[in-house]
Amino acid sequence: MNTETNVAVDATFKKDVLEGLSSFPKYLYSKYIYDSTGDRLFQDIMKLPEYYLTNSEYEIFQLHKSSIADFFRGLGHGFDLIELGAGDGEKTKVLLEHFINRGLDFVYKPIDISENALSGLADSLRMEFSELEIAPERGEYFEVLQRLGNYDKRKKVIMLLGSNMGNLLHDRAIQFLSQLSENMNEDDLLFMGLDQKKDPQVILDAYNDPTGVTEAFNKNLLTRINRELGGNFDLDKFKHWEVYDPETGTAKSYLVSLETQEVTIAELGETFNFKQWETIHTEISQKYDDAVVEWLAEESGLSIESSFSDSKEYFKNYIFRKK
Ligand code: AVI
Repeated sequence: MNTETNVAVDATFKKDVLEGLSSFPKYLYSKYIYDSTGDRLFQDIMKLPEYYLTNSEYEIFQLHKSSIADFFRGLGHGFDLIELGAGDGEKTKVLLEHFINRGLDFVYKPIDISENALSGLADSLRMEFSELEIAPERGEYFEVLQRLGNYDKRKKVIMLLGSNMGNLLHDRAIQFLSQLSENMNEDDLLFMGLDQKKDPQVILDAYNDPTGVTEAFNKNLLTRINRELGGNFDLDKFKHWEVYDPETGTAKSYLVSLETQEVTIAELGETFNFKQWETIHTEISQKYDDAVVEWLAEESGLSIESSFSDSKEYFKNYIFRKK
């Protein structure tokens, strides 16, 4: 990242932290969890037995890779496979391997905000699949969406896995999907993994693991504020708390202040007061059902072409087309 971008990121980070901690109730945006420590903690979360999302999506790919390939391949003129937020690409490899074995004509374009993640992914893919054509690009989702319109030489398949859209409120998700659909042509597909409503206890356990990895992940927001904005949050004076509302399908993460305390953030020149048991809302992880997904698609100019689920019906991957 160049210095100019860093300054811009710092300025938005500062503004967002100031606004979030000055509001009532207090909040912080979950996108700020993901620095290199946050990325690593999320990798650890994905390996937790309670965090079923990863294995469910992995199973879907194992079970349905052949039908998925048929949809992607379409008329067989070749396609660009654009993955937003590719990360370490572990699950994607199942599909890539299958597509290569079937002789599909495609270029894989992983897109991620982290340069580190991208170069690691490109290296490991080149080692594992020498015949794979790969064209990585660094960037944020919304910024990359604008560039997507330029990929119009042939069919594109846009992939967003791991229920990443679940971290957006419905309004923002519709905005995001609408931007996607505006940049899609008639033939293009959107392939998206969305976590499903299920036994509320299973969901709560996934965001409340006994080893405390999720707690450390959530508290990384405070660590970042301490390090980058000169904050003096005492991490031990906050507790990670998760709630899940089965009616709306929304899981919410909080950091709860264990005592009355003051926190100073030097770069903001501000001191924030916390009452005992006061909350900072840090993340939403939306769970879906077909009716909600249909509504989101409808609002965004998309329609559901097909969907695939794992054996427990915990998770679904949907194929959308522009309406
Ligand atoms: C990245 N995102 C889809 C994860 C989720 O399930 O909402 C982030 C996460 N938060 C706590 N655990 C995992």
